[in-house]
Amino acid sequence: MCTDNRITRRAALKRMGAAMIGGAVASSGLFSLASCRGKKNKRIIFYFTGTGNCLYIARQLADDGTELLSIPQMVRHGKYNFEANEIGIVYPVYGHMPPYMVRQFIQTAKLKADYKFAVLTYGARKCNSVEIWDEISQRGGHVFDYIGTIVMVDNWLPNFDMNKQMKMDKRIPENLQKITADISGRRRWHEPVTEEERRQHQGFMRRSGLDPEVGFLMKSEKCFIVTDACIDCGICTYVCPRGNYELASRGVQMSGDCEFCFACIQNCPQKAIQFRRSEDGSFPDGTEKNPNARYRNEHISLMDLKLANNQKL
Ligand SMILES: Cc1cc2nc3c(=O)[nH]c(=O)nc-3n(C[C@H](O)[C@H](O)[C@H](O)COP(=O)(O)O)c2cc1C
Ligand code: SF4
Ligand code: SF4
Repeated sequence: MCTDNRITRRAALKRMGAAMIGGAVASSGLFSLASCRGKKNKRIIFYFTGTGNCLYIARQLADDGTELLSIPQMVRHGKYNFEANEIGIVYPVYGHMPPYMVRQFIQTAKLKADYKFAVLTYGARKCNSVEIWDEISQRGGHVFDYIGTIVMVDNWLPNFDMNKQMKMDKRIPENLQKITADISGRRRWHEPVTEEERRQHQGFMRRSGLDPEVGFLMKSEKCFIVTDACIDCGICTYVCPRGNYELASRGVQMSGDCEFCFACIQNCPQKAIQFRRSEDGSFPDGTEKNPNARYRNEHISLMDLKLANNQKL
């Protein structure tokens, strides 16, 4: 048996680092995933979030035995096999479609559950997002028993002033209560879609030129710039679900496939991240409604968002 309890300073720091990472992983849901292997959970809820709305909704739909799991973390760690009595997913609609990473996840994941539900958050116009999810998830071999939507603050900076959005009463508690009751009663229901909503979506796809198989997958270096206002605080390096930002000796560098989730631009304390104007005016053209207004869900802290999206763990 080793009786020498002395450790070097280097070893102590290494242990401390491991403990901190352990704590962070536990709060982001990864620890509980590891600890529950082989055990059947009551409910698992997966979420993707840029500005906290979906994390808030996922938390509100969680009961005592629920595991909340961040999709960017699951994708990063290659975790795709899950079993529970009930499995849910909460994501923001982007052009009425799921974020690219959510598509990737659902097309790879094996989800075994008696009841599957999806709650899609949106800000102004949901169109046929319910049907789009039904179709994409079925292609991945999943049948969702319940697909509903809930209107939240619209974080789409090109068209909306965040200050005005935050003042609007979108009846979130009432709508949430209805969804919670539906899910608790294991309601089998897909929110109806009108012909007009399908037409609106088709019109949007024509105008935007987006690929329906991809949606909003962009290149961050083509969409954003970092100005001299940057103070190297590093927040963007934690909140980006794709880990596109890095603190380098020349300041913050950014590149890579981008979900266009706005976690970076909305959470920069200096408003140093700005849209890059597109040279030919193509969508999205880089203009925005109010560059001085930024948004994060009032119930979600910066630390919550860092733990949800951090790609360094
Ligand atoms: C790229 C992008 C596209 C969006 N497209 C739509 C849309 O088509 N319809 C809509 O009502 N809201 C749209 N929104 C608003 C978000 O769906 C909504 O604010 C959502 O609740 C944000 O969730 P989060 O805070 O978890 O990221 C879009 C937001 C972004 C960033
Ligand atoms: S969040 Fe803003 S200020 Fe902080 S490092 Fe990133 S760009 Fe700079
Ligand atoms: S670069 Fe910004 S918008 Fe793109 S994925 Fe990262 S946080 Fe989201």
